[in-house]
Amino acid sequence: MIVVSDTAALETHLTTLRDHARRVAFVPTMGNLHDGHLALVNQARAAADAVVVSIFVNPMQFAENEDLDTYPRTLDDDLNALREAGVDLVLTPSADDIYPDGSAAHTAIHVPGLGDALCGKDRPRHFDGVCTVVYKLFQLVGPDIAVFGEKDLQQLLIIKKMVGDLGLPIDIQSGPTQRAEDGLALSSRNQYLSASERAVAPLLRQTLQSCGAALTATPDGPPTSIIDPAREALERAGFTVDYLELRELATLQLVDRMDQDCALFVAARLGETRLIDNIQLAASG
Ligand code: PAJ
Repeated sequence: MIVVSDTAALETHLTTLRDHARRVAFVPTMGNLHDGHLALVNQARAAADAVVVSIFVNPMQFAENEDLDTYPRTLDDDLNALREAGVDLVLTPSADDIYPDGSAAHTAIHVPGLGDALCGKDRPRHFDGVCTVVYKLFQLVGPDIAVFGEKDLQQLLIIKKMVGDLGLPIDIQSGPTQRAEDGLALSSRNQYLSASERAVAPLLRQTLQSCGAALTATPDGPPTSIIDPAREALERAGFTVDYLELRELATLQLVDRMDQDCALFVAARLGETRLIDNIQLAASG
């Protein structure tokens, strides 16, 4: 496995890789890898002849008050896991390399609509930062395929829209959310939870499942009759709910009946830790 931190040296390694690989799949990450990331890597390996992974904690997608400085960095463990998973090349660029003039001064890619709802509402520059870095990484790596997790469903939809709008010749594939045995979606941020918060956390997924079943059973709505009490129950259990919303999958518009494919999205905080999850719901009837 080749590890490249200097983007200027990347081109030579990619040329060598392409001599043997007809299709290259790419998995961008911020490191601190868990089985969710590794499932995407395995999917990438099955879909292509060579796999490239990036590890870059992207300053542009963190707001001032967020956890950029404390975001867990575990490079040695990450590289061992990627080596074991059969990855061909790992890119670990520096922030100076990606943003020579700083991320605040950098040109931003904004996907309107999809990027303004849900996580984009409370974190206005977040998805601009995600799109910009993903675009730059795509330019550096030039993959045929890129794989993203459904855990971050809004991010996945935004990347697909960006790739379509900008005509990038990259096949965006998605992988299902990997979970702990009790249903909690794996996330680098789970390790911040105290023991008592960790015990309550699976309620998030259980709420999505029970609301999902009830929404599918009463497609004519109104969804608020199901969602409002569920939000209150989460709050009573100790969550601070940022949103629990039923939205149309194609546009991320709020819907008041289940006559199109939808997803129920949740973001909620336990103490300082913000957790997100979602469940996709097929249109009924
Ligand atoms: P990061 O949070 O490290 O996630 C990297 C990829 O792993 C994303 O596509 C994410 O959706 C996926 N992922 C995370 N947890 C998962 C789980 N439990 N099951 C399946 N997939 C999971 O997302 C980012 O980094 C960044 O925003 C990035 C795209 C790298 C841009 O900086």
